[in-house]
Amino acid sequence: MSIDSSQPLLTPIRLGGLELPNRVVMAPLTRMRAANAEFEPTALHAEYYAQRAAAGLIVSEGVFVSPEAVGWADVPGLWSDAQVRGWSVVTDAVHRAGGRIVAQLWHTGSLGHPDFHAGKPPLSASAVNPEQQSVTSTGRKDTVVPRPMEKDHIRRTVADFGRAAHNAIAAGFDGVQIQGGYHYLFNQFLNVRTNLRADEYGGSVENRARFLFEVLEAVVGAVGAQRTGIKTGPATSETGAFVSTDETLATSEYVIGRLNDYDLSHLLLMGAMADLSATPLAALAGDGMFRHFRELYRGNVIANVDTDRERGNRLIEAGLVDMVAFGRPFIANPDLPARFAMNAPLAEINWPKVYGPTAEGYTDYPAFQAVTA
Ligand SMILES: Cc1cc2nc3c(=O)[nH]c(=O)nc-3n(C[C@H](O)[C@H](O)[C@H](O)COP(=O)(O)O)c2cc1C
Repeated sequence: MSIDSSQPLLTPIRLGGLELPNRVVMAPLTRMRAANAEFEPTALHAEYYAQRAAAGLIVSEGVFVSPEAVGWADVPGLWSDAQVRGWSVVTDAVHRAGGRIVAQLWHTGSLGHPDFHAGKPPLSASAVNPEQQSVTSTGRKDTVVPRPMEKDHIRRTVADFGRAAHNAIAAGFDGVQIQGGYHYLFNQFLNVRTNLRADEYGGSVENRARFLFEVLEAVVGAVGAQRTGIKTGPATSETGAFVSTDETLATSEYVIGRLNDYDLSHLLLMGAMADLSATPLAALAGDGMFRHFRELYRGNVIANVDTDRERGNRLIEAGLVDMVAFGRPFIANPDLPARFAMNAPLAEINWPKVYGPTAEGYTDYPAFQAVTA
């Protein structure tokens, strides 16, 4: 099998202070392997991430910034000293295997559930049920009407993100990525359907974005812009309260345009997650998302969603993005860059074991060369 290491995906790039050997990013993937009361990563996490260290950059699974941020079962945190120690083992293993890893900082907001908070509803911008499902330790449950965040909650959450970012660096991560998109807390503030606030955090787009930028500044203040990235964009599931409106695109344009004021490490931009043809986002279908935001944002863009080797190379070649993040392909292909180099077939995901506490379906996917040897 011939090796093609000249393909755009396999060329090096500088990202903030990091020299990456290739442009194949491992997208953040929640895998529910932290089934312990302390929200700590385990030795299994270290093995799993080290197996994937050939990625140009690994973005960790979403990691909760505080107990209040919790809203998905068996996900680790980054607020306690013990969690920092646990993550140090993971980042050491990745670095020893030659890789780089940033921590994705997560707050689920109204996507959480009272089960996580002693029966109290989770926090969000306003008392609007997002009409999604929350993954609890006893299965998927319908979301509820959340509690609107008081100013105190907002201040505390800003501080929580800053502290979690600081903790990430203390734990040996090479940087952080704020989970600023999809259905989670910041999009609950940005979305006019879920933010009905009458204070300075609601109403105009500047106001709806205020909380996200306060958090961004706290994180940048804690670890520096060159070690800070963000996942954001208009793409959601187009379900429940996350059906796009006439404001959705303008809101994302405002947020992404303003990100130019910070010299961030990266913007992880999700492509369409649903059929957009009958929505106000129709022009963003396919490569439209990347074409649109390339015009607006001057920093490094990482494309994501439904990309493969061919599309990834084409997007970089066309200058639409700088790197490409692969989520599902990294689950079953720990050696994804090598498979791209060889144009080798990709292994299939063991879907029933994607989530769950054991090594099965997590660390038991062999590298291609081990399969063919
Ligand atoms: C099992 C699974 C877990 C995920 N967990 C996260 C997560 O923790 N944080 C996040 O931002 N996105 C998460 N995602 C979304 C992925 O990062 C990615 O955006 C999505 O899978 C689309 O990329 P793909 O087409 O390459 O899989 C998850 C996706 C899957 C399939």
